[in-house]
Amino acid sequence: MTVADLPAAAGALAAVRIAQSVLNGLSGHAQISTGCRLVTTIHLMHRPVFTGRAAERQLLHDAFSLAADGRAQVVLITGEAGIGKTRLVADLAEQLGIDQLTGPDSEAAAQWRVGNCAPLAGTALAYGPFLAALPDQAGWLLGEDDSSDMLVARHRLFERMLALLSELSAGAPLVLVLEDLHWADESSRLLLGFLAVRLREQRVLVIGTLRDEDTSGQTRLWLAELRRCATVTLLPLTRLADSDIVELIADLIPAGTSAEQVAAVVRAAEGNPLYAQELAGTGELGPPPSISAVVLAKAYALPAPAKAVVDQVSVADGGMSHDLLTATVPMSEDSLVEAARQAVNSGLLVAADDGYAFRHALIRQVIWTELLPGERRRLHRRLAEGAGRAGRLRSGPAGAALASGGRPRPGRGRGPAGRAAQRGGPCLSRGRPLLRPGDRPCPVAGRTHPAGAGGGGPDRELGWSS
Ligand SMILES: Nc1ncnc2c1ncn2[C@@H]1O[C@H](COP(=O)(O)OP(=O)(O)O)[C@@H](O)[C@H]1O
Ligand SMILES: [Mg+2]
Repeated sequence: MTVADLPAAAGALAAVRIAQSVLNGLSGHAQISTGCRLVTTIHLMHRPVFTGRAAERQLLHDAFSLAADGRAQVVLITGEAGIGKTRLVADLAEQLGIDQLTGPDSEAAAQWRVGNCAPLAGTALAYGPFLAALPDQAGWLLGEDDSSDMLVARHRLFERMLALLSELSAGAPLVLVLEDLHWADESSRLLLGFLAVRLREQRVLVIGTLRDEDTSGQTRLWLAELRRCATVTLLPLTRLADSDIVELIADLIPAGTSAEQVAAVVRAAEGNPLYAQELAGTGELGPPPSISAVVLAKAYALPAPAKAVVDQVSVADGGMSHDLLTATVPMSEDSLVEAARQAVNSGLLVAADDGYAFRHALIRQVIWTELLPGERRRLHRRLAEGAGRAGRLRSGPAGAALASGGRPRPGRGRGPAGRAAQRGGPCLSRGRPLLRPGDRPCPVAGRTHPAGAGGGGPDRELGWSS
């Protein structure tokens, strides 16, 4: 059955029902039909409905209610890129009757100020998000200070900010949104720390968002300190349930899309709403260009040893144990540990059990697709040799898992870890056990992937327009 078989009026809802009917199969190994006829029209009607996140919405709304009652709050929303941090904040704005484009009107329940951190600004922009949120007061906040002592000058600025927020919130509750604090400069972090301690009875809710994979060690330390303040709540966002993703993409998928294809998109997205939207919009189950660009930028920014680790893990289905990596990558142990640390810090890999896996199956696909055929062949050979050296070559579950020759396939990340992530566990793409010494890594010697898979990218046959 396809969506096209249904009455047009019921299209979107029917798509949801159809896809929901196949959701049960997602946890198994539902086959993706490659011969389906598809319609190319994509319906980008409006921003998809907000789905899921009932508990998180409630928490944020409760924080606003407390703040509006004169108990200032700070909520820090964390999560991987595209998981829905900004959207959750936008949802609160909608609940409060605030149009973020035009700003609050006289009927709105609160004042609403948003300041973004500049990408990769590092220490370059002092107080960046605060000044962006309060541009009219920026000159006054940064005004000349006659003190020659930098600490005294900074303290005065902090006090001015506290006074400003107190004054602004005297008339109506104030929501101050500081976006992408993983890029915040140190002065912004210190100022937010100061406010978390000193804001008390002001009707102020400060909401910060931070991207997990780009949060530096210093910022993590700052978060750990901050969470001890009574006013501060950390709100980590985990991946959405399959049923929420289905609802989210219902308006984006082309009419005529089969239930199997909807299920394939849901599987490939692994609970990430941004990935789901991009996959549904492009009709390709391979990584959308927007995602590829970010992943490749990160990969090429890595030092060569860290890139070598990322490349090596990309040919192992489900990731690799540290022992196997040691036996596979020609590097001293110290260098390898350092390289693995850099690969994890970049957000491309996550440390999982006793090894490393890709954060998301689509990230693995981008890395794998970028490799030249000769590079893949070499990496597979090293993997086979490393496994042989490190342990007796034998068939095992991971060997069977590599029946594809290590070629990444969309939607393979739905395993115990994926389901754990949905229950609130860590976000990582790891549908299969890590490959360990002694596991059989590659069943077909010398053959790294099916012929033609490298040209045009894997899984292109699943596109909407095929
Ligand atoms: N719960 C949700 N329901 C519907 N769409 C969502 C949801 N969460 C995120 N999205 C959509 O996914 C995309 C990425 O979300 P965004 O909030 O920008 O992610 P982040 O800020 O975490 O990087 C946006 O287009 C957003 O509208
Ligand atoms: Mg965001």
